[in-house]
Amino acid sequence: MEGLQKINPYMSRAESIIALMQSCQRDGTTTTEPENPMKAANLDNVDCPICNNTGYILRVDEEGIQWSRPCECMKKRVSLRNIEDSGLRDLVKRYSFDNYQTPGEAQKKIKQKAEMFVKSDAPFFIISGLTGSGKTHICTAICKALIEDNWKTKYMVWRTDAAHLKSIVNEGPAYEKEINRLRNVPVLYIDDFYKGSISEADVNLAFTILNDRYNGEGKKTIISTEMPITELLRVDAATCGRIVERARGYTLQAPNENWRLKGG
Ligand SMILES: Nc1ncnc2c1ncn2[C@@H]1O[C@H](COP(=O)(O)OP(=O)(O)O)[C@@H](O)[C@H]1O
Ligand SMILES: [Mg+2]
Ligand SMILES: [Zn+2]
Repeated sequence: MEGLQKINPYMSRAESIIALMQSCQRDGTTTTEPENPMKAANLDNVDCPICNNTGYILRVDEEGIQWSRPCECMKKRVSLRNIEDSGLRDLVKRYSFDNYQTPGEAQKKIKQKAEMFVKSDAPFFIISGLTGSGKTHICTAICKALIEDNWKTKYMVWRTDAAHLKSIVNEGPAYEKEINRLRNVPVLYIDDFYKGSISEADVNLAFTILNDRYNGEGKKTIISTEMPITELLRVDAATCGRIVERARGYTLQAPNENWRLKGG
């Protein structure tokens, strides 16, 4: 009777939905901030005739005891919620493995490695290349596949998010909360890493976020950057050296093509 739970009569419907959602989470972690029951119970845009949008299926056994188990639709609901929380909602609508084209050998290799990364337990994926070469596309495709596999994911745009974090570095709890989310989230995607001028504060910030992820088990970090890997190693040997070491086999170079300039 795997997945069945005896009904707890003292649990409200919202609480049971939260419990069900948590039991559907792959990583088993709980969020650090209290859940908003209305948000958790928000049954998204999924219309499920099997459970009548309650999220669970009830069964009464011969002794009259009620049991429940999460309905199949909960996976979809958890996935939609994870997309929403990740910050990638708009990007995942546009970018996936399905619409990543592979006209050249470089793209074929990138797509193959990206798909392997999703299935592997490799901790780091780095792609370096010029603007318009498809970095955000392929990294979003990776995140989308991981989210569909119930990984909690967070999207960080280096230039804006790092500037924000540096501006609140002296604000104690607010800073800690945001930085811990980036440190601890099972999947972190940093887009355009080290874009803009790099100060000592940037190097410290990268260390704070990534050193933990370097050591942590069961986490995945996806990084896209316009900087050549040799340049990354030059500006920040400590943190980037470790990442590149951990990304062995998944350190890729996007082809020198700007798809934004392609006619169409
Ligand atoms: N291999 C590809 N297949 C399909 N579209 C691509 C490919 N590479 C780039 N593009 C498209 O080109 C545009 C720019 O890609 P993007 O991922 O934003 O580049 P980057 O992040 O490297 O600057 C996007 O619309 C993207 O979908
Ligand atoms: Mg990009
Ligand atoms: Zn259902």
